[in-house]
Amino acid sequence: MGGQPLYLAPRLESRLRSLLGSPDLLHTLTDALGSPLHVVVPDQLADNLQQFRSVYGIHHLSGQVFYAHKANRSSALLRRLAATDAGVDVASLGELQHALGAGFTPDRITATGPKNPEFLWLAARTSVTVSLDTRGELEQLATLVRKHALPRTRVLLRLSGFEASGVRVLSRRSRFGTDVRESDPLLESVERYGDVLDLVGVAYHLDTTSLAEKATALEGCLRVLEECRSRGLRPRAVDIGGGFGVNYLADGGQWERYTTGLTQAVLGTRPPLTYGGHGYGLRNEAGTLRGTLGLYPAHRPVAGARYLDELLAHPAASLGGSPLAALLLDHLYDLHTEPGRALLDQCGLTVTKVLEVRDHGTGGPLLVRLAAKADDVALEDHGVLMDPVVVPRDGDGSGVPRDGDEARTAAEPVGVHLFGSLCLESDLITRRTVFLPRRPAPGDLLAFANTAGYCMDFHATRAQHQPAARKVAAWQEGDTWRWCLDDQYWPTTPVGGAQ
Ligand SMILES: Cc1ncc(COP(=O)(O)O)c(C=O)c1O
Repeated sequence: MGGQPLYLAPRLESRLRSLLGSPDLLHTLTDALGSPLHVVVPDQLADNLQQFRSVYGIHHLSGQVFYAHKANRSSALLRRLAATDAGVDVASLGELQHALGAGFTPDRITATGPKNPEFLWLAARTSVTVSLDTRGELEQLATLVRKHALPRTRVLLRLSGFEASGVRVLSRRSRFGTDVRESDPLLESVERYGDVLDLVGVAYHLDTTSLAEKATALEGCLRVLEECRSRGLRPRAVDIGGGFGVNYLADGGQWERYTTGLTQAVLGTRPPLTYGGHGYGLRNEAGTLRGTLGLYPAHRPVAGARYLDELLAHPAASLGGSPLAALLLDHLYDLHTEPGRALLDQCGLTVTKVLEVRDHGTGGPLLVRLAAKADDVALEDHGVLMDPVVVPRDGDGSGVPRDGDEARTAAEPVGVHLFGSLCLESDLITRRTVFLPRRPAPGDLLAFANTAGYCMDFHATRAQHQPAARKVAAWQEGDTWRWCLDDQYWPTTPVGGAQ
């Protein structure tokens, strides 16, 4: 098998644990709707929203939580959220139409990201708030509003390139947003177009796990808001984007052991842990480890709402050292957030059927082919390493072997390489050697937990005329799981409707 098994067990909260403990349901669904199949759990999204809301409560802050729609195309998730008081961040014309159609009123929608004229027009026409990336975009919107006699449009100015006091640039470069050092000309444009644009505040989104970088950006935004006020503008909000992260793994020790093992495997001091000796960014140069590990930190105890809490408690070093939350409160600024991945934590899983299990006689990992393409389970694209859960065809979901199945009766752990169904060498579900508690068999399911954030449909293709995964929404009525096709779900669907 290639050394001791190195498991990376997924973190499973009660809903996903219960679904995975319902093998008959998962097999019935895949028998009927095919493999791969995405299952989303809309009620979990509402619970996650409450966790963010409670952090606002702890810090006495007002403002909106805007779900970053780009993380999942699901209608069920969006409609479930429309039944709460949350907002939605839309990043395309299609997402805006989807949000309006799901029941979000324009005051609960913010438009971000690269925009075409149609997207800008519909946003302005419906009085959605627009987060502007550049002065050019601001002028384009202002011209459009004037030309089409649209309502005065609420705007946020998205900024980037923040620096900590001193010399070291702390915040990540971004191709989005205006460099904070260019904010003066931007504010001049806001003043020039004051008849058609209403400045709500400033925004940033940083693709980093670093709290310090985000704190620097938030301090930078607070300084720009002061500048706005000194010009007589009346900003009232700061939008700190998304990037609160997810804790994918159940056990930090497993993560430590795996990353240590990977390092040793790259250095050749233990058997390989990947297909073809892939190093996830690490390499062996004449016995010295080089490169950086290009993986998501899959065990992240401080993620999601907890991460927001820590950010808000972080002292604003350049603004007198008070916690960032206290500064927001002092100025009565609303705090807006745009969590995508974090709001979708535990909101779904992807089920795939095992088509073939091949032993190629070398004693190495088994070759397991799944009825899914790598892009249907895009955990690897996001650098997330996490074991699938085996759901046996005739088992009870508890790992109990079937009668007469020798390999199963032995229940020996096995190392496997998981391949997709494309006729392409690179179609690997993961390049990692995955350890399973026992040998899977054709007809079993491998379920990948926690795939709702970006891993379901962000990368999905119909390559080789193979279908993209279908999607169902599932909810619990007492002890029973109920389900419907994703696009059939409305908050009235579950008995009694969503609360
Ligand atoms: C502007 C903006 N807001 C929010 C998000 C959501 O980020 P996350 O899913 O990491 O929370 C993104 C992601 O790309 C983004 O670009």
